[in-house]
Amino acid sequence: MRAAFYRTTGGPEVIQVGDLPTPTPGPTEVLVRVGAASVNPIDLYIRAGTVSMPLPQPFIPGCDLAGTVEAVGADVVRFQPGDRVWGSNQGLLGRQGTFAEYACVDEDWLYPTPAHVSDAEAAAGALVGITAHIGLFRCARLQADEIVFVHGGTGGVGSMVVQMTKAAGGKVITTVGSAEKADLCRSWGADLVLNYKTDDIAAAIRDFTQGEGVHVWYETQREPDFVSTVGLLRRRGRMVIMAGRQAQPIFPVGPFYVKDLSLFGFAMFNAPPLEQRICAEDINRWLSEKKLKVPIGKTFSLAEAAEAHRFLEANTLHKAGTLIGKVVVVP
Ligand SMILES: NC(=O)c1ccc[n+]([C@@H]2O[C@H](COP(=O)([O-])OP(=O)(O)OC[C@H]3O[C@@H](n4cnc5c(N)ncnc54)[C@H](OP(=O)(O)O)[C@@H]3O)[C@@H](O)[C@H]2O)c1
Repeated sequence: MRAAFYRTTGGPEVIQVGDLPTPTPGPTEVLVRVGAASVNPIDLYIRAGTVSMPLPQPFIPGCDLAGTVEAVGADVVRFQPGDRVWGSNQGLLGRQGTFAEYACVDEDWLYPTPAHVSDAEAAAGALVGITAHIGLFRCARLQADEIVFVHGGTGGVGSMVVQMTKAAGGKVITTVGSAEKADLCRSWGADLVLNYKTDDIAAAIRDFTQGEGVHVWYETQREPDFVSTVGLLRRRGRMVIMAGRQAQPIFPVGPFYVKDLSLFGFAMFNAPPLEQRICAEDINRWLSEKKLKVPIGKTFSLAEAAEAHRFLEANTLHKAGTLIGKVVVVP
């Protein structure tokens, strides 16, 4: 099969594309003919070697996939050949990834793809959808009518947080870097959309919440500002952090605890399969009901895998601002 792979960590140029043996499914595995994969920042960190993971040789990158079941192992009970499936949590923790024509995935990490949803959308929404869901519901226990703030409303995670908050009956304040991105967030029902380059975010939040602050602050940026955020959370507010491995910001202890605030951190790949499946079931329901749409900013072929990494790197790490939504790779 054609696959993108690398043997040593480094820049995007370490990624090669060539022929590798098509994998054979183990007893609990499903062989998926990949229709689409998507790129996430964690793929960049693993490839660069800044996040250390055991890497099979050669290593196929990519966490997310969607496609069609080609064959199943003897003990697989939830899927059969011909089923359309999506999943995440590959290309991590020693598991091979999804940038290939075929991938063997344990059935625990797969979910049925709703009928009208394309492979590209299902793959693009996988890791970011599960991440948004864990933060909003497992961590912050979001309730209907609560107000959520999230930076980057058209970003991978941000776009999911915006739409899931609305699907759950909440209100959402978000930020973007352009008027086009603001329009997209409004089309998903965002209640207040701010431009992080030009608007006074703190003043606008205070105004929108009549000085009370938000219930949930979902931080997607790698350098959280706890001093500012603690001031913008209302009593019993919850803050979710999930980015910025190197960040060591100042933490305002007194202002935090006297407001009865809570802080949650998580990495989605630590969540066991049953927890991720709870997220996937909601994601599938919302996709089917068209309450959740997955923005796809750019699509690359498998042969362009290195270019796909370069493009996401320019945006997520170097803030080029040229991406609206997700980067997809099609084998
Ligand atoms: N812990 C976990 O399990 C987990 C899971 C997924 C992701 N992550 C991490 O979460 C972070 C976001 O991931 P992602 O996939 O959503 O990345 P992404 O798609 O690149 O989104 C980044 C967003 O940040 C926005 N942004 C850039 N500069 C900003 C600024 N100064 N102020 C406010 N917003 C700004 C961008 O907005 P514009 O496009 O409008 O400029 C964009 O929407 C990454 O660091 C990733 O590693 C962690």
